[in-house]
Order: sequence, then C-alpha cells, then structure tokens
Amino acid sequence: MRTGYAFLAALSLSLTPCARASFYLQDEWIGEEFYQAWNWETENDPTHGRVNYVSQAEALGKNLTYVDGNGAFVMRADDWSIVDPAARGRDSIRISSQSAYEEAIFVLDLKHMPAGCSTWPAFWTLSKAGPWPNGGEIDIIEGVNLGTHNQATLHTTPNCTMPPDWWREPQTGKTADSNCDTAANFNTGCGVIFTDPLPSCTSYGAPFNRAGGGYFVMYKGRDSVKVWFYPRVGYVPKVIRDGAGRGQRVRPDFTWGLPAANFPFFPDHCNYDQHFDAHQIVFDLTFCGDWAGSDGIWPTSGCGTGTCPDFVNNNPSAFAEAYWEINSLRVYTSQW
Ligand SMILES: *[C@@H]1O[C@H](CO)[C@@H](O)[C@H](O)[C@H]1NC(C)=O
Ligand SMILES: *[C@@H]1O[C@H](CO)[C@@H](O)[C@H](O)[C@H]1NC(C)=O
Repeated sequence: MRTGYAFLAALSLSLTPCARASFYLQDEWIGEEFYQAWNWETENDPTHGRVNYVSQAEALGKNLTYVDGNGAFVMRADDWSIVDPAARGRDSIRISSQSAYEEAIFVLDLKHMPAGCSTWPAFWTLSKAGPWPNGGEIDIIEGVNLGTHNQATLHTTPNCTMPPDWWREPQTGKTADSNCDTAANFNTGCGVIFTDPLPSCTSYGAPFNRAGGGYFVMYKGRDSVKVWFYPRVGYVPKVIRDGAGRGQRVRPDFTWGLPAANFPFFPDHCNYDQHFDAHQIVFDLTFCGDWAGSDGIWPTSGCGTGTCPDFVNNNPSAFAEAYWEINSLRVYTSQW
C-alpha cells in the first residue's frame, strides 16, 4: 500500500507539472485592526498634491479616522476647514502595510471610496525594497475628479511592455497603454480602463458608492498580474465575499470569471523577477497633483473654472464624499 500511494503521488505530480500555487490566508484587517501593522505616512505627497498627510494620532484626534457603526474602517479628508494657501494642503491620510508580499492575492471589500472634484484616491502596492520604480508598482483602484471608471496600471523599470490585446489572455477592460516603463510617456504606465459589468457601470467614484461598493481582487504572480471587480449587488464568488479561513485553500478559477485587467508576463515582454518583488499595500487620498490637477485633466474635469488648489482650499463641503469605508482587507500568500 505504501508503495502504491507513493506511486500515485509521483504520478499526480508528473501529470501536473504546471500546477499553480495555492494561496492561504496570511493577513486580515477588519475595523480597529487597521490601527496596527500599518505606517501612517506624513511626508510631502510625492505626486505633488494639495494635501497634508497626518499621523495616526492626529487623524484620530481630528476624527479623520474611526470605525463606524457597521464596523467598517473609515479614513477621510477634512470636510469642514478652509485651508490657508500657505499651509501644506488639506488634511488627508496615506497608510502603507508594514508587511510586503511576493506572490499573493489581495481581496478588498470596499463600501465607499473617495469621490469628487480634485480627489485622486488610490489603492495600490509597491516594492518595499525600492527605490521606486525598482520592484514595481501595481495600481488596483485609481481615478480622479468626477471619473466613473476604475483604472488598473503597472509602473516599472524599462523593458516591461504588455503584448497586444489579441495576444493577451482575455480581460473585460480596455487597454489604454502598453508600456509599463515609468520613463516612457510621462509615466502613464500600462493601464487598463474598466468597462464595468453592464448595465451597472459601478467600478469607480459616485456610481460605485451609490451601488454600495464592491470587491476588488488583485492576483500578483510570476505569470501575471490580474485585477477582478465585483459590484456588491451581483454575482460574487463565495470565497471572495465571505473570505477564506486559515488553512482554507484559495486559488483563482473559472468561478472568478474574466479579470477586468490582465497583465501577462512573458520573458521577452516583461519578466516578473526583473521588474517586481515583494510589495507593500498602500491606501492614499491626495488632491490635484500630477494627475487630478494636471493641465490636461483639471480644466475639462467639469469642476469649474478656478485652479485646482484654490478649489481644494476654499470648498470644504466638496469633500463630504472624500472617504474610504473599508469592510475588510485580506491577503492570501502562495504556498506550494
Ligand atoms: C466622527 O465622525 C463620525 C462620522 O461623522 C461620527 O459618527 C462620530 O460620532 C465622530 N466621532 C467623534 C468622536 O466625534
Ligand atoms: C532593455 O532592453 C534593451 C534591448 O534588449 C537592452 O539593451 C537594455 O539594456 C535593457 N534595459 C534594461 C534596463 O534592462
């Protein structure tokens, strides 16, 4: 019998030489747990936003962060103060996980994301070792101003490009750019704009919030990066909706459906080991800056005729919707 089992084990290994890793729960944050194991960053915004990132103590003291009646973790912008033009900017929050993850699946259950004129929120990952762009950046949720479609984007060192759409594995989103190199195209990155599950169109901004939010899932593997989006009202794979317990295996399969964005890695286009390593997770909310406030974007954003920084300084009530409300974040890491 012993021999028989060994033979069967050897046979199944040889029949599945390309088996993908399985993933198991590594970290989970719900409610107050976000006050541990995250850095609350207070540096000047590297993207030049009209923002003042505050410490955890200051954010708690000003009630810019709290756990709400639903047990959800909230991080918000100041929506009551006029900002002195001489001040650094409007109070907001940027946090990064102390842990970094190599191959992993990230599942965010999000009830509300920051929305409104001048806002530029992002949920993303980047190399802990760096310095940027070494080790890469993966933007999972990103958009600006009154936008209604999410965009997922990779930013890398040179020589990482995405193959043409016809060559990619399928994705439901639309490729905006195929060169991930930060030195190309003014650091546009290789982005995919979500063409949301019709007819709901709820992957970003006010429509996302009105629909009660949803789930963003990012798979980071040596073969590819993939991002899925599931509106809360609609089909959500059970393991994504409920989360997996310790020891319960998670792996992307056909029940997850097509990803909204798919970034395949091939040795001659983009090699994981050359461009990516262990990533921290970041949530931030800035205003104006290199994207939301840029000359090509702000004037046509539908946010009025003044400058973006003036808008931020003088319109506190415009920031009432500028908050993250997070039900949970789970990270599953690979074990072979
Ligand atoms: C913080 O703000 C929330 C939302 O407005 C409110 O429900 C809560 O009572 C506030 N907490 C404090 C301590 O002011
Ligand atoms: C990018 O590829 C070119 C051509 O293959 C090569 O000459 C160059 O050294 C590569 N650059 C980096 C940073 O790897």
